[in-house]
Amino acid sequence: MTKSLRVLMAAVVIAAMAYGAALTLALTGNLGSATAIVVVVAGAVLLPVALFILRRRFWSPLGALREGIRQVADGDLTTEVSVSRDDELGNITAHFNQMTRVLRDRAEEQGRFAAAGELLSGVAHEVNNPLMAIASHAELRLADANLPAEQRNEMQSILRQAQRAAKLLRGLLRFVRAGEKRSTTVNLNDVVRSAIDLVSYRFSIDEISIEGQLDPELPTVVGDANRLEQVIVNLLSNALDALRSVNPPRRLIVDSFPDDTGGRVCVTVTDNGPGVAPEIAPRLFRPFASTKGVRGTGLGLYISRQLVREAQGELDLVKHVQSGARFLVWLPSARQPVPRAPAATPQATSLPPPAPAGTLSGIRVLLVDDEELIRRPMARFLTKRGAEIKEAADGLAALERLAEGFEPQVILADLRMPRMDGAEFYQHLQAQRPALAERLLFLSGDITHLAGRGLAEVPRDRVLVKPVELAELEQRIVAFVREEAA
Ligand SMILES: Nc1ncnc2c1ncn2[C@@H]1O[C@H](COP(=O)(O)OP(=O)(O)OP(=O)(O)O)[C@@H](O)[C@H]1O
Ligand SMILES: [Mg+2]
Repeated sequence: MTKSLRVLMAAVVIAAMAYGAALTLALTGNLGSATAIVVVVAGAVLLPVALFILRRRFWSPLGALREGIRQVADGDLTTEVSVSRDDELGNITAHFNQMTRVLRDRAEEQGRFAAAGELLSGVAHEVNNPLMAIASHAELRLADANLPAEQRNEMQSILRQAQRAAKLLRGLLRFVRAGEKRSTTVNLNDVVRSAIDLVSYRFSIDEISIEGQLDPELPTVVGDANRLEQVIVNLLSNALDALRSVNPPRRLIVDSFPDDTGGRVCVTVTDNGPGVAPEIAPRLFRPFASTKGVRGTGLGLYISRQLVREAQGELDLVKHVQSGARFLVWLPSARQPVPRAPAATPQATSLPPPAPAGTLSGIRVLLVDDEELIRRPMARFLTKRGAEIKEAADGLAALERLAEGFEPQVILADLRMPRMDGAEFYQHLQAQRPALAERLLFLSGDITHLAGRGLAEVPRDRVLVKPVELAELEQRIVAFVREEAA
């Protein structure tokens, strides 16, 4: 407490005690009557003055502070309490104002981030449809056994690039909209790979080389893969930021390994940047600790540590690294060795093995999608595979096809369509022709459906998110018809 307040309080207490003693003496007749009158009059004057001073110095600022806290608790982050004095209460008030300002800035930032997420899911929808059109046309051409080798190569590159773009989009959206927590057994190598994928566009721009060893025998851990990916992306982003401030060679090294006891699974992210600035090191994992000014919220490491702790692990800065910075994430291992992963080159995962020709032989499919550029190649591909196809541009047109007597074994319907969308179509069938409703598979361009959002009306396990590879679509149809038959 500052000196002035302490002196004031001591003076009031001593004065009150002295006055009390004098009053007692006066009342018991131990003081002369003139002195007693003086004491009582002095007390009557001084006590209100003392109370007035106390009120000004304590009650009023405390009341203002309490009102400010109430407003902030009600969500008003524009609150500011005036600081009138340079004493302890003034200090507390100034800190309160500072805290509210920081909260306000962060809330604005979070708001912008949330808005960007919303925007991104809208954009994803718009981009996914053309991507699927591109991929479908390429796949349709590839299904032609007589395609000359040169064109086959070209079509394969088109398909791969479309798949790459789709994968990036999915990753971004998964990241922005990591929804409710879902703990599963997770292979941290997969998490690290998809995190690297997300930031990899910066490697060539910033001349950064990515190195390291992901142990293929890494035991699994238990956690939420999306949240763990968020942790690794935060560490990678920090490393990339740090690397940009030094001259090449810029090295980013990511390793995964079990610790000596085998009880923990570790991932380290190392860079040869300038290292963590000494002034921030003690507060590194506290909220709002940042050296990046308006470019950083200072929440990355704080949130990351919370997420790792949620999975019973720990995130720390490794001390005594010669140069640069190294962060270590460890999680308790689930004690199940993961089968050796195949070498994960992007190409290796791209194309599913071609199904033998005519796998859809005799299967009747009703295709319902308003985007002709998607519907047409899909229809042609499935026809080539032996299916009998009817097309419709929306739910109403599909109902007309059904009324004409077409009895599909599978109905593929886009969720977003004009006039009657996929969910309405499904509800209509459930009411009028429940057996057909069971034959519906849904297509969705809205990636957020992956997380099950907005899917109250349709069965989630029957939604395929665009862009869907035609070969995969074919396999889904075959499996679906088989299940229905069983
Ligand atoms: N690899 C690194 N090398 C050097 N300094 C680092 C590194 N990683 C983190 N830091 C320091 O730690 C601070 C806090 O990092 P943190 O990720 O919490 O916030 P931020 O990166 O500033 O902002 P954001 O919320 O956008 O992530 C950074 O501002 C930086 O000074
Ligand atoms: Mg950061």
